Amino acid sequence: MEAESSQAYLAMASWADIQPGLQGVAEFFFKQSDEERIHMLKLIRFINERGGFAIVPLLAQPIVTFKSLKFVFDEFLNHELKVSNSINDLVHLSLSEKDYATHNFLQWYVNEQIEEEHTARTLNDKLELVGDDKGGLYLFDRDIMMYRGAGEKGKR
Ligand SMILES: [Fe+2]
Ligand SMILES: [Fe+2]
Repeated sequence: MEAESSQAYLAMASWADIQPGLQGVAEFFFKQSDEERIHMLKLIRFINERGGFAIVPLLAQPIVTFKSLKFVFDEFLNHELKVSNSINDLVHLSLSEKDYATHNFLQWYVNEQIEEEHTARTLNDKLELVGDDKGGLYLFDRDIMMYRGAGEKGKR
């Protein structure tokens, strides 16, 4: 799922990259994509370190074209909520298996998802506020990097 996130955000970055005036949004999603890849690598290394074997899966093609900027950010939030659910399922599984090492490892992802959901919700709220106002969209694009993982503690 982290790899799928990486691909989904890369597709959003590429779409934004060719829209006039959305360089900020493109930059935001290129960065998000990089981070999701790091989240994936962290999982692969942990599984192997613990004596498992992480199999790299085939990925589905992400959504590559978007009817509006709002649609992009709705998808972003939906995607993060899906990831959060999946992390929660893993936390539940690790407890029922009494795998406390994995449970402990997963807490990083639990915290990460709190931030990711917060960022996605904040940006959706801002876009809601802006509506179709061009000046507002200009500022949204200009300031978007400020909202990346607000409150991050140098962990990325
Ligand atoms: Fe992630
Ligand atoms: Fe994420």
